[in-house]
Amino acid sequence: MVPIRINAYAGPGRMLFILLGAALGLLLSWPADGLASKQSVARGKKIFDSQICRDCHTMEGRGGKAAPDLTEIWKKEKRTRDWIIGHLRNPHQYDHFTIMPDFHFSREEEEALTDYLLAPK
Ligand code: HEC
Repeated sequence: MVPIRINAYAGPGRMLFILLGAALGLLLSWPADGLASKQSVARGKKIFDSQICRDCHTMEGRGGKAAPDLTEIWKKEKRTRDWIIGHLRNPHQYDHFTIMPDFHFSREEEEALTDYLLAPK
């Protein structure tokens, strides 16, 4: 009897706790997955401008023509956050013969660059 009563009591209580935890987790992770912060976009732009991306890519009217213009990549189909981060990490996995180098960015740099790439311009 006793264990059953304890379970009956702990069940709904635990469930509520888990649901509240999940809701809080979702709320806290929302800005990271949804709207990119202005700081992250600004940092991404700084990284982009300090690297050799424009040797090949045009961005906001300046740069090379050897690679796709990145200004409006956010309008392109299938260019999700995950896709861009994955591509930055290992361009050769996406195109075997690409001339795009592997930059060995940190996770944080990849995310900031991606926020910048996906920000409407
Ligand atoms: C030596 C030339 C070169 C440099 C430098 C270069 N890229 Fe690329 N990049 C390419 C080429 C070519 C492609 C298209 C083929 C492919 O997907 O790899 C490409 C593709 C991309 C794509 C996918 C575009 C699309 O819509 O398919 C992104 C995003 C990108 N580059 C970002 C960057 C960033 C950010 C930098 C700088 C950190 C950079 N690239 C530096 C040559 C370059």
